Amino acid sequence: MTELFTNIPFVKELAATADNMYRLGWDERNGGNISYLISEEEVAEYMDITNVRRVIPLGFNAKELIGKYFLVTGTGKYFKNVNGDPETNLGLFRIAQDGKNAELLWGYADGGKFTSELPAHLMSHIERIKVDPENRVVMHCHPTNLVAMTYVHELETKGFTHTLWQMSTECIVVFPEGVEVLPWMLCGTNEIGVATAEKMKSARVVVWAMHGIYGAGKTLDETFGLIETVEKAAQIYMLIGDRKRINTIKDEDMVKLVELFGVKYRKDFLDLKNGR
Ligand code: 13P
Ligand code: ZN
Repeated sequence: MTELFTNIPFVKELAATADNMYRLGWDERNGGNISYLISEEEVAEYMDITNVRRVIPLGFNAKELIGKYFLVTGTGKYFKNVNGDPETNLGLFRIAQDGKNAELLWGYADGGKFTSELPAHLMSHIERIKVDPENRVVMHCHPTNLVAMTYVHELETKGFTHTLWQMSTECIVVFPEGVEVLPWMLCGTNEIGVATAEKMKSARVVVWAMHGIYGAGKTLDETFGLIETVEKAAQIYMLIGDRKRINTIKDEDMVKLVELFGVKYRKDFLDLKNGR
């Protein structure tokens, strides 16, 4: 990789995030993938946007994203290797005018291509941008405790969210819209992409039972922090295990928290006396 590419800020930032995710054990082997929406101005600062190196079919129509640029981890690539060799493990492409192809401008240097989970990523970007035009990141990984929790906790969205909220005081403030949960589904398909994006209409976190998590946000840091908070809550849940719980954060206490921080939350995920 040339000196120039090593210093691209958005490449460095994504590589540093992949390092942190790997360090926390969320991305064994090739587990996990990241997509990062970059503005044309930012891309043009570092590469020739008229030089399309390869055209790679997307396998679905992403017409809502025509002309948009994404930095995306490669399929089969290991997060632990991204920092050492971004040009092989990452790729930067533009969605072509037909909405059905990726125009590769940089990366996937060994002839590789984007993650097999690109449908879930791009379809989630489409939905999250509608909710928040500043959304730029979709992140998928396999956090250990969260995956463990999906084996022993019922998967219904309200109950799953409520348990996570109870596990740490900051939870309801960090993800007040709750987490959505999908049952086990075949990964790497357009179907799981459609299902994930549907859930992304109402939440930035979607749990894939017995697989992992999807998070979305404005920045890599924010999205990382969101997943980190959910995983920490799941870790506490798994530490408590079957032990008798003698203390808990009450729903009434959670209301005090959201009122103090002024956040809009899923009131219907709480069981409040007096409808409060
Ligand atoms: P990729 O190597 O294709 O990114 O897949 C990893 C993964 O986590 C599948 O869900
Ligand atoms: Zn996965």
